[in-house]
Amino acid sequence: MNVLLINGSPRPNGCTFTALSEVASTLEAEGISAEIVSLGAGSLRDCTACRKCAELDNACIFSDDCVNDLIARAARADGFVFGTPVYYAHPSGRILSALDRMFYAGSAAFRHKPAAAVASARRAGTTASLDVLSKYFTIAEMPVVSSSYWNMVHGNSPEEVQQDLEGLQSMRNLGRNMAWLLKCIRLGRDSGVLPPVTERAYKTNFIR
Ligand SMILES: Cc1cc2nc3c(=O)[nH]c(=O)nc-3n(C[C@H](O)[C@H](O)[C@H](O)COP(=O)(O)O)c2cc1C
Repeated sequence: MNVLLINGSPRPNGCTFTALSEVASTLEAEGISAEIVSLGAGSLRDCTACRKCAELDNACIFSDDCVNDLIARAARADGFVFGTPVYYAHPSGRILSALDRMFYAGSAAFRHKPAAAVASARRAGTTASLDVLSKYFTIAEMPVVSSSYWNMVHGNSPEEVQQDLEGLQSMRNLGRNMAWLLKCIRLGRDSGVLPPVTERAYKTNFIR
């Protein structure tokens, strides 16, 4: 089993990476493979609402950034952790651009797989950012993995995050909870407990 951890910071080895690394090493200790992928600092397109993805197989029409590669990686993953720095009390613009496109074009890669959000801030805006990221999971039928506190660390540098002992403890507890849930899901599947079939008969816009 493997977990894909996506770092939504342009700083590949910054605070968010430090938090995700703590989750990843806990997962590895629990026998779950963990891979951290950074969105990087390059240009990343926003969703243009062209709806061309409806004609494609789990892919965005734009293939000049990392999004299609991430959808392909997501299809192979069993669980997810999405990490973001807090910018003006919300997740980074780049993680929102990536997730809008990944979930709109490739939601099948995520359905019924557990996910968690992690936020890193100097001081404030973490819970609002976690709220935003969690909304992607709860519209995609993904079990949300939690910890002993909300999944946040505090710091402006990796060294400061290393001093946030409770934050790192939350990351380790998150990793153990993710590993436990993945093992339960695997055991359930092996015993014939499959994900439910989703009803899709109704899609009612608010037009009366
Ligand atoms: C544009 C920008 C906006 C920021 N806004 C906030 C904020 O609203 N609240 C906060 O506590 N920290 C804020 N910060 C600080 C970062 O959230 C914090 O340093 C974070 O841990 C950086 O993570 P990273 O090293 O993974 O990029 C901001 C940083 C930047 C660059």
